[in-house]
Amino acid sequence: MADTLTITDNRTGKTYELPIQDGTIRADALRQIRTSEDDFGLMTYDPAFMNTASCRSAITLIDGDKGILRYRGYPIEQLAENSTYLEVAYLLLNGELPNQVQLDKWTDKVTNHTYVHEFLRDAMQGFRYDAHAMGKMVSMLGALSTFYPESKNVRDPAVRHEHIVKIIAKMPTIAAWAHRHSVGRPYVYPDNELSYTGNFLNMLFRMAEPRFKPNPVLSRALDILFILHADHEQNCSTNAARAVGSAETDPYSTLAAASAALYGPLHGGANEAVLRMLRQIGDVKNVPEFVKSVKDGKGRLMGFGHRVYKNYDPRAKVIKKLAHDVFEVTGKNPLLEIAIELENIALNEDYFVKRKLYPNVDFYSGLIYQAMGFPVEMFPVLFAIPRASGWLAQWQEMLVDPEQKIARPRQIYTGIELRDYVPMNARG
Ligand code: CMC
Repeated sequence: MADTLTITDNRTGKTYELPIQDGTIRADALRQIRTSEDDFGLMTYDPAFMNTASCRSAITLIDGDKGILRYRGYPIEQLAENSTYLEVAYLLLNGELPNQVQLDKWTDKVTNHTYVHEFLRDAMQGFRYDAHAMGKMVSMLGALSTFYPESKNVRDPAVRHEHIVKIIAKMPTIAAWAHRHSVGRPYVYPDNELSYTGNFLNMLFRMAEPRFKPNPVLSRALDILFILHADHEQNCSTNAARAVGSAETDPYSTLAAASAALYGPLHGGANEAVLRMLRQIGDVKNVPEFVKSVKDGKGRLMGFGHRVYKNYDPRAKVIKKLAHDVFEVTGKNPLLEIAIELENIALNEDYFVKRKLYPNVDFYSGLIYQAMGFPVEMFPVLFAIPRASGWLAQWQEMLVDPEQKIARPRQIYTGIELRDYVPMNARG
């Protein structure tokens, strides 16, 4: 059996044989299918990339039907159980788990770049008191590019590495300062004796105590949440990172663009939307009525459904379990009961079953974040911190891939072909 596809163009009667590799045909191979010499050639039309692979990637595997997520071949459940976020970031970026020496060196480097330039602190002061934390994050990432103009030498592996380290190190600092700015508290500088997430909690929540002692359960919970959010193959923000990075834009500006994509309520903003929805439902007794309104098309059940997962999101399973550990420390989030009831009802309703809508990563993560003391506007920021390692791994993979060029889709032009300019006095 040949790995080819035979196509007959009924416009011309000509037959073509296209190679099939990895279950795909190259869209480019269709260009030879023409009706005449000056015909551009056949294209594919795929709004929202529903059935188009835009790259070859060895980083993350998702099998949406089976509910599988793996980084570099390792199941997400095993990484969440045994690893740390920094180790996972190393794995995503380098392809292999580090040995002890490599991990110590990597951790040391990241820890030594957590400080940001003091001018950035001044820039933060330029925002209004009620500016959304994610807007600040996007802007601060863009601003960082102005401090490191040499980072635009994206073809130099040593330069790339230097700025990958800086970005992963500084994400928690910017995020924490965005929060402190919102609540009008003085900025807390990094404590490099603490772990990645322990230091993040320090910069967020330290008050007058001379040394902040992060709660180990909360610090580990955050580490697990960071592992779960670190990469998710070609999602909207990663696609943005690859597309913007393909113009050889510096990594800070590239990540600002990716963060902007993540800000959207259908992507990283969904966990914020889940909390607002749970608050709006208000009581377990209102759940059936709410589910009915969703079925009637009066809005979506936020935190449900996924473009790729047509099964329970494996990250949601880990998070649901994690919620219980966190609530032992923080006390139960009263919205949890509403969420559980919502899940129970939805999973048994025909509307959701038929469409294969299951809880996704955002359904329970917001409840944990809220119990840990984060305001809702910090939720997408908490997503962006670990996703930075995924964006950077994908950005780097794109840059070294000899098949990749500046991203530039085609279009089907639907406008008017040609007309003459009409002077103002002749317009109706
Ligand atoms: N509630 C109710 N109906 C839904 C939902 C939902 N959450 N999601 C999809 N549907 C329905 C949709 O109306 C459509 O029905 P019909 O066929 O009758 O028109 C059908 O399911 C297919 O939906 P779709 O919009 O074509 O699916 P999509 O793959 O384009 O959308 C999604 C994926 C995640 C944007 C969508 O499921 C959604 O809006 N979910 C709520 C927002 C959310 O939780 N987003 C977080 C995604 S996970 C985090 C991340 O990776 O960023």
